[in-house]
Amino acid sequence: MIDRIAQLREKMASTIIKDKETLESFRRHFISKKGAISLLFEAFKELPTGEKKVIGPTLNSLKQAAEKKFKSAASAIEAKHVSVTGQSVDVTLPSFGPTIGSLHPLTIVQNKIISLFQRIGFNLVEGPEIVGDWHNFTALNFPDNHPARDMQDTFFVQRNPDQLLRTHTTSVQIAICETQSPPIRSIALGRVFRNEAVSARSHCFFHQLDGMYINTDVTFSDLKGTIYHFVETLFGQATKLRFRASYFPFTEPSAEVDINCRLCQGKGCTVCKHSGWVEILGAGMIDPNVLSNCHIDPEKYNGFAFGMGIERIAMLLYQIDDLRLFSENHLDFLRQFKSVLGH
Ligand code: DAH
Repeated sequence: MIDRIAQLREKMASTIIKDKETLESFRRHFISKKGAISLLFEAFKELPTGEKKVIGPTLNSLKQAAEKKFKSAASAIEAKHVSVTGQSVDVTLPSFGPTIGSLHPLTIVQNKIISLFQRIGFNLVEGPEIVGDWHNFTALNFPDNHPARDMQDTFFVQRNPDQLLRTHTTSVQIAICETQSPPIRSIALGRVFRNEAVSARSHCFFHQLDGMYINTDVTFSDLKGTIYHFVETLFGQATKLRFRASYFPFTEPSAEVDINCRLCQGKGCTVCKHSGWVEILGAGMIDPNVLSNCHIDPEKYNGFAFGMGIERIAMLLYQIDDLRLFSENHLDFLRQFKSVLGH
């Protein structure tokens, strides 16, 4: 019996348990009810009492050693096969490094624009996305029959009284003028909505920044100086710009501002429609009617305003040719902006 115990101990020690199959065969061979150790215990019962006293402790320690080896092998195998969503994961493999995200290109551009205006004294303001007719149209001098008031152009949430998804962030400026008194320097930023077919150049929602300055003796030169500061800081000192006469219901005189096309350096390409120029914003001197609508005395105060689409600016800055990319969440697109993180 002593020899048999020694043999089993040796065999046990040399048995390698590397997976669930070898673990099960170890259990069957050594510790199951019909296993080698149980058989020894059967034989042990038949021994004379004197021999039992000598062999008992050795046999018990063999049994304990077998159970210990089984348990530790079982937990090692379990640890290797932690099950995640039904798949086995080898936790002994080296771990993945932490992944670093990136800011969305629109956030990067917005941050740049906010900080360049804040440096010259403009306050950032926000307003609601659902507004009444007054803030979006009437206070801004839009006539009753203006096409922007049409269902084809604007998303109405409710009619009579009208509630709608704002079509521009100029609506926020009205709310500011109603609650503050000049001097006012503010930039309103946020999402705007228009009932447009989605294409590479237009979308049913996009982001706008609207700026205004109201004080005594504000001149068109102040407006030009501010726009030059904006363009030169964002696009570089060498950028050329031009003011073109235009029309907006809430400004008089009004202008549209173009910069020279960055893709073809003004030579002419499809982006600038072979003109060498691309439009970046609308601007003008605030119409006196708009000031009176907000209870600001137009005899005493005047001001300028400007508005731009953030997507348009980002497309020019990063040479992105499809507006839809901003809202489609393709990681291949978004990951390209990692290098501009923190700028
Ligand atoms: N609100 C105009 C638009 O959405 C943009 C604009 C033009 C804003 C001239 C202004 C401005 O403040 O002065 O097309």
